[in-house]
Amino acid sequence: MTKYLIKGGNRLHGTIEISGAKNAAVAILPAALLVDGICRIENIPQISDVTLILQILQELGAEVRTISRTTVEVDCTRVRNRQVPYELARKIRASYYLVGALLGRFGWAEVPLPGGCDLGGRPIDQHIKGFVAMGAEVDVRNGLICAKVPGGRLQGGQVYLDMVSVGATMNIMLAAVLAEGLTVIENAAKEPHIVDLANFLNSMGADIMGAGTDVIKVRGVERLRGGSYSIIPDQIEAGTYMAAVAAAGGEVLIQNVIPKHLDCITAKLLEMGVDVEERDDAVMVRRNGPISRTNIKTMPYPGFPTDMQPQIAAVLCLAQGTSVVTEGVWDNRYRYVDEFRRMGASIQVDGKVAVIEGVETMTGAPVHACDLRAGAAMVIAGLAAKGVTEIDSVHHIERGYECLVEKLAAVGADIKVIEVPDEEAAKPQVG
Ligand code: EPZ
Repeated sequence: MTKYLIKGGNRLHGTIEISGAKNAAVAILPAALLVDGICRIENIPQISDVTLILQILQELGAEVRTISRTTVEVDCTRVRNRQVPYELARKIRASYYLVGALLGRFGWAEVPLPGGCDLGGRPIDQHIKGFVAMGAEVDVRNGLICAKVPGGRLQGGQVYLDMVSVGATMNIMLAAVLAEGLTVIENAAKEPHIVDLANFLNSMGADIMGAGTDVIKVRGVERLRGGSYSIIPDQIEAGTYMAAVAAAGGEVLIQNVIPKHLDCITAKLLEMGVDVEERDDAVMVRRNGPISRTNIKTMPYPGFPTDMQPQIAAVLCLAQGTSVVTEGVWDNRYRYVDEFRRMGASIQVDGKVAVIEGVETMTGAPVHACDLRAGAAMVIAGLAAKGVTEIDSVHHIERGYECLVEKLAAVGADIKVIEVPDEEAAKPQVG
């Protein structure tokens, strides 16, 4: 088993370069299925979720060429297979984008129900509602989402989403680009990755208007052609390192970001007494004094992102005073709280609300990365804690953070990867 070993207490100094956005990449790569020709996609993050999506595309018959560490060329012209391999698809949430993309291209798709982080119920009824509004017949059976269009080609439709859903918005957009006529998505999500997917598709010849607002209109086109596209920087990766500096203290320039995308995170850090200075494509984050308490409520963009909730909670554990965190998106995103308690944090959870009483110091302990962002939060807590923190199940972290250990070590963190024999890892933990 691979673990991260962190000796806390080092302040962070230097520069961190942010990679391409995970949640944009995992939608843009399946979108290549809709394109006739070669898509050159740049600023791809090197994370295991992306590796999995590329593997799935290859299994379907796509040609994937690695051009450089961050650039791939994907050619789906010769894809004929529409059955997505079970073992690969169930490991990743974003495999649901294959339904929209395959339905749009072939009028037929069979995709295993997706996996991903356990955040409570993760229904896909709104995705299905969208496909049905465009004339598809959708059935969920034997662990598969089976969708087909009786006439072969989807028809534009009107879809009002019952809740703001990132996945449903993107999936319906994917299905709609090659449909006949106009599709209107109302109450659409507005996250930066929604706009990025629309920009990618438009640059390949799609006709999508309104991405980034709550009404998106997609006028179907006959075909998309190949081209080049560069993925936006990862808002959440940047926010995670901002939170790391806030917790550990120090001064770090976080580069290759779109500062506007970080406004919701910056605003909260400023309230907490952290200094954030915006540059053109970077933010300088400094924390020398004490951390002030604040309240956080997670919401769809431009609200405070749920994917930053565990990381900011790690910082609030060390704030002066009591903070209230309210999770507004997922049913169960506090599974990390017991791990924080092992490190000396004082947190009470009641349903979707966590009350955090700041403590002066946290102490290192063996902890478990129960999901991607919870794992990132463990790293942040470990950087600020006294003593050694050993984090297991770090494969969750590697699903979404490129070279996290190297990036933090380069700014002075004492963090390293260790390999522990499985028998050793299975022993009960003391701490
Ligand atoms: C995406 O998940 C992200 N995943 C999540 O990031 C992120 O937390 C989430 O959006 C919200 O920002 C990817 O992009 C791969 P939703 P998604 O549909 O699309 C309910 C991370 O850490 N809902 O916006 O699955 C749902 O239960 C991950 O990077 C329905 O009820 O989220 C939730 O309460 C974790 N029916 C809310 O809507 C549906 O059909 C928002 O979910 C769809 C969603």
